[in-house]
Amino acid sequence: MPGRGRKPPAEVAGAKHAANTSIRRALLAWYSSNARTHPWRGTTDPYAVWVSEIMLQQTQIATVTPYYQRFLNAFPTVSHLAEAPLERVLELWSGLGYYRRARHLHQAAQAVAQMPGAKFPEDYAGLRALAGIGDYTSRAMLSIAFNQPYAVLDGNVARVVARLYSLRGNLHQSQFRRTVEKELAALLSHREPGNFNQAMMELGQTVCLPRGPRCSTCPLARWCGGYRGGNPEDFPLARPRRAAETHHLAVALIRRGTTVAMVQGLEEGLLDDLWNFPSALGVTPSEALESLKQKVHRLTRGSFTIGSPFGKFRHTITYRSIQGEVYPIETARPICHTSLKWFELGVLPQAAISKLARKIVQKIS
Ligand code: ADE
Repeated sequence: MPGRGRKPPAEVAGAKHAANTSIRRALLAWYSSNARTHPWRGTTDPYAVWVSEIMLQQTQIATVTPYYQRFLNAFPTVSHLAEAPLERVLELWSGLGYYRRARHLHQAAQAVAQMPGAKFPEDYAGLRALAGIGDYTSRAMLSIAFNQPYAVLDGNVARVVARLYSLRGNLHQSQFRRTVEKELAALLSHREPGNFNQAMMELGQTVCLPRGPRCSTCPLARWCGGYRGGNPEDFPLARPRRAAETHHLAVALIRRGTTVAMVQGLEEGLLDDLWNFPSALGVTPSEALESLKQKVHRLTRGSFTIGSPFGKFRHTITYRSIQGEVYPIETARPICHTSLKWFELGVLPQAAISKLARKIVQKIS
């Protein structure tokens, strides 16, 4: 029987469209009076937006803030960044992690500096062609810097959307992701896409929290399926986590007066470009030590003695949980090897060293 209980599709679509209009308005009004001030907010300079979005990938806002300010002071424009030596860029990045981002930033800056007027492309394909700019960053730049109607989907935004429309699944399921993208695209403000995207992020970061969401202060609660059902935390489903792998790291402390020997990279392509203490990974502490001895043998090209370990530390690199020990190395003759660079202990904290090396410096100084 037609018409009983079920609304015809056009009516449902119309009601949804009207609800989305109200949601969008409530969200933007909430954002205009509740947005936190971040140094990258209030600018539409594509260079500044780009740097902030790259730094904010995989890194917390509180960590990014001082780095962003230092970076923009050192390189106020894309041309300043393009002309800087990579080593200087890495120094300013040191401690933020995921250093490939800094190398790509430098590479892309050199490409943009060659473009007419040293201006960024203003289209999706043009931005995507730059090193380190993927779908997320292109969309963020197009919406925030160029006011173009592109929605940005991150984990926080997906949680808001999943709760609002009661969507079950996790972001690693392509069907779920497509559904979230579709709902988000329908909700996007075409008039203020940059504010809309940042408002969704802000809501996910400060109100629609993974655990203990603050629904009583949420501007979208009255439309929210999760809130009305009394189970907002059930959306989205937790994503299956990759099990952490434990690795052991043996670290060589080779001193010469007040300097210490460093090498570039860690192992297996980890921490490339950054200065580290010569180190070796192993499945067990003794395997790491054996491997370190071979490495030190190659570096010293002769006899050395290895002292008792000290300075135990723990460190995490993506899914690798690392347990490390530092071994003092003594050599009979002065060491000279092209892959070693000698750093004064006092200047190490300002050098392009890894977070891991920074942790070790704290142990030994
Ligand atoms: N995370 C990624 N981009 C962001 C932005 N523009 N504001 C706040 N958090 C973010």
